[in-house]
Amino acid sequence: MIPRTIIEPFRIKTVEPIHWSTREQREEFLQAAYYNLFLLPAEDVLIDLLTDSGINAMSTHQWAAVMMGDESYTGSSSFDRFRDSVQEIFGYKHVIPTHQGRAAERILFGTMCKRGDIIPSNSHYDTTRANIEFFGAEAMDLPIVEGTQLNAQHPFNGNMDVPLLEKIIERVGPRRIPLVMLTITNCPVGGQPVSMENVRQVNAVCRRHNIPLYFDACRFAENAWFIKTREPGYEQKTPREIALELFRLGDGCTMSAKKDGLSNIGGFLSTNDDRLAQQEKDLLILTEGYSTYGDLAARDLEAIAIGIHEAIDEEYLRYRISSVDYLCRHLAEAGLPVQQPAGGHAVYLDARAFLPHIPPPQYPGAALACEIYLEGGVRTSEIGTLMFSSAAKVDLVRFAIPRRVYTQSHFDYVVEVLAEVWKKRESIRGLRLTHEDVFMRHFTAHLEPIADAASPS
Ligand SMILES: Cc1ncc(COP(=O)(O)O)c(C=O)c1O
Repeated sequence: MIPRTIIEPFRIKTVEPIHWSTREQREEFLQAAYYNLFLLPAEDVLIDLLTDSGINAMSTHQWAAVMMGDESYTGSSSFDRFRDSVQEIFGYKHVIPTHQGRAAERILFGTMCKRGDIIPSNSHYDTTRANIEFFGAEAMDLPIVEGTQLNAQHPFNGNMDVPLLEKIIERVGPRRIPLVMLTITNCPVGGQPVSMENVRQVNAVCRRHNIPLYFDACRFAENAWFIKTREPGYEQKTPREIALELFRLGDGCTMSAKKDGLSNIGGFLSTNDDRLAQQEKDLLILTEGYSTYGDLAARDLEAIAIGIHEAIDEEYLRYRISSVDYLCRHLAEAGLPVQQPAGGHAVYLDARAFLPHIPPPQYPGAALACEIYLEGGVRTSEIGTLMFSSAAKVDLVRFAIPRRVYTQSHFDYVVEVLAEVWKKRESIRGLRLTHEDVFMRHFTAHLEPIADAASPS
C-alpha cells in the first residue's frame, strides 16, 4: 500500500490571524529592533519560529479544563488532578508545581548542590547551567562525540558518554557529585534523543556509586517517540509505556510544561525522596507559593494535567516528529546545509556553511536570521557567536517548531523563503555589535550591518 500523508491529528476551531508586511516595512522594523529578532514586536512577524516554548496551541479539552480550575488557596481539587495526572506518566511520589522549568531547577539545585560540587549531564540547558553555577557548583557536559558533530549519523545523538562519566566519578569521587542529570531530548545538541540503553547504563553507574539520577524532562514525549521508532525492542510499546520505563530508571525530574506539557506556562519538580521533597516544599513556599499551586493558577494546573497526556499520544507524536522532519528534509533537498537527522523540536541551519564569507566575529547566524526575516517575515533564532561569544563552536540558525500551531503549508512557505535566501547568499553581509548587556546578551544586544567593502561607508 502507498503510504498515506501524515495529517495534523486535529481540526481547527479557533484561528489567530497572522500579520503580513512588505520587505520595505520589514527593513524598517528590523532597523528599529537593532537587527536583533528578539527585539521585534511579535505582530511584525508572519511565521514565528523563535522558540517552541510556551506558544503551544491548547486543545478543546484543555480549554474546557481551564474552566474547572478550583482556585482555592489550599485543598484545591485542581492540584489533586494535576498530581494524579503527572504521577500516571512520570511515576514519582512527590509532585511539586512550579511556574516554569527554571524554578524547578533553582529549587532542585538549591536543595542538592553546594559550592565545589559537580553536576554531570549529557548536556545542560542554559538555565540549568546558570542555576547550578549560581550555587557555586560546576555544570559539566558529557555528550557522546557524535553529539558534538553537526551531521553525525547516530540514532541517539543526545546520549551521554558513559565511560567518561565513570572516569569523572573516579577522578573527583562520588561525594562531590550530588546528582547526575539527563536532558531528554538533548536540547543543547539540537533536540537529539537519548536511548533507553543509554539511560540504563547511566542508571547502573549512578546506582554503583549511590548517586541520584534526575531527568530534565521538558521533551520527554518526543524522546519516547524516538525510542519507539529507532531502538530495537520498543516498536510494539506505546510512548506512554516507554516514558514510564525510562522514568523508573531515575529518582526524579524537572519539567517545563511549556514544551511537552502542551501548555503556555508551568512546570514541576518530582522526586521519590521524602526528605528532599520536604526541603523543596520549604523553599517553594519562600518564592513560588504553597505546595499545591507553586505560583500557578489552578487553571494552569488543569491545562498541564491534560496537556502531558495529549503530548504522549501516539498519533500526536507521529504528526509532531514528522512535521519537524518534513521541514528538515525539504530544506536539505533544496541543497541547504541543515543538521541531519532532525531533532524533535527544531531544525538547525549551519550558518558558517551557508555564509562562508562571513567570519564568526561578524555573527553569520544572526546575519542569516535577519535575512530570512527580511525575505519572508519568518522569525528564527541564532545559536552561535552572538549567544555564546567566542566560546561558540558553531553558528546555527534554529527553526523551533511550536506544537500544533503551524501546518504543512506554513512549512512549504518557509522552504520557499529559504530557497530565495540561498540564491542571494553571497550578497548577505555580516553584523557588528553596538551594544551588549552583561547577562545573556543575545536577548538585548544591538547590532548593525557591516557596510560592503565596495559601497561607500
Ligand atoms: C531542556 C530545557 N530545560 C529547561 C528549560 C527551562 O524551562 P523554562 O523555560 O520553562 O524555565 C528549557 C527551556 O527552553 C529547556 O529547553
